Amino acid sequence: MRTAEDGYPRGVSVTELGLPGLRAASVARHDPARPDDPRLIDRFGRVATDLRVSLTDRCNLRCTYCMPAEGLDWTPKDELLTDDEIVRLVGIAVRQLGINEVRFTGGEPLLRKGLESVLHQVSELDPRPEISLTTNGIGLARRAEALKAAGVNRLNVSLDTLRPDRFATITRRSRLSDVLDGMAAARAAGLNPVKVNTVLLRGVNDDEAPALLRYCLEEGYQLRFIEQMPLDAQHGWQRSEMITASEILASLRREFILTPDPAERGGAPAERWLVHAGPSSGAPGHASGAPGRGPVVGLGPVLGTVGVIGSVTRPFCGACDRTRLTADGQLRSCLFARGETDLRALLRGGASDEEIADTWRGTMWAKAAGHGIDDPGFLQPDRPMSAIGG
Ligand code: 5AD
Ligand code: SF4
Repeated sequence: MRTAEDGYPRGVSVTELGLPGLRAASVARHDPARPDDPRLIDRFGRVATDLRVSLTDRCNLRCTYCMPAEGLDWTPKDELLTDDEIVRLVGIAVRQLGINEVRFTGGEPLLRKGLESVLHQVSELDPRPEISLTTNGIGLARRAEALKAAGVNRLNVSLDTLRPDRFATITRRSRLSDVLDGMAAARAAGLNPVKVNTVLLRGVNDDEAPALLRYCLEEGYQLRFIEQMPLDAQHGWQRSEMITASEILASLRREFILTPDPAERGGAPAERWLVHAGPSSGAPGHASGAPGRGPVVGLGPVLGTVGVIGSVTRPFCGACDRTRLTADGQLRSCLFARGETDLRALLRGGASDEEIADTWRGTMWAKAAGHGIDDPGFLQPDRPMSAIGG
């Protein structure tokens, strides 16, 4: 983020026009073209109803595609939103802006002290939003019951490999069994369906798609592969290195038969497929993980589903329904937004709920049509994924 070193006050981010984020927000707020609509609408007809909240930029893993081995300069505590500030902002979002789903992310959200208290307070909001959590699974085995009790509805766990040696290579920590135990504990606690997020890396784990799918089908988890996006702190992402959605599907089809899932995709980024046993799948011959789905004529029984999120090669920006809040209180209209709006400054400057809500609307109104990764002028955001929230 460009701050004091560039002559801008600390904590005030800049848009690509070089205006402080707050001013950009108020420019948008006064845009006479913005209809008088309480929701988070934008110029392209989208409505944001899904809020992603990063609770910390810290993490206890060091995934190579996310951050360097030594970690990053974590945000100092006084710059992080307090629990009360988070609950206030989420409250404004659900009461005044039409947010009906809140996903807590990080970094690693389980590292946030007081997590269960924040979750519980959000679960008491009226209207009550759906609450989900994206975690790397470390420590989840001990926390799953408490998370469920605090109001979490759904959980996503990141898992890129089933091989301990590869897990250590990718995350730079030997913690595979903790993650697998955490997933099982989440399932046992009733946080179903447990969703699994996998990023495939060329030459590292790109041969593991069928094995991961087999494992998730057997365990009753819902697997989704995500194309690697240019969001690493090291700025080392290369398009040629990315395993594409097409490659993922081709790899799965060597062992399984996939047919499009007729269930409505809505704003969900994942293309969903029904999975049928293929000639060499070695998968269980009975239906599991897809309750209520009967056999498909001419194919083996449906074993479950798999999702493929082609963030880069099959962008879903046109259906995006997200708005994002970083752990230090910056509002982002997109993972790839070049500008941020400083809600923390508004909170701490004594702004009213209505002022905050209208600034939020103004920021979303100015949301870009898409991430533009394929544009010649694409610039990776200054913040890495761990500081934005996945
Ligand atoms: N591209 C795609 N997915 C990523 N994740 C982290 N960094 C990237 C990236 N550059 C995934 C994590 C986790 C989720 C929050 O996002 O593996 O599952
Ligand atoms: Fe941590 Fe997630 Fe980044 Fe891995 S990808 S280092 S688990 S924040």
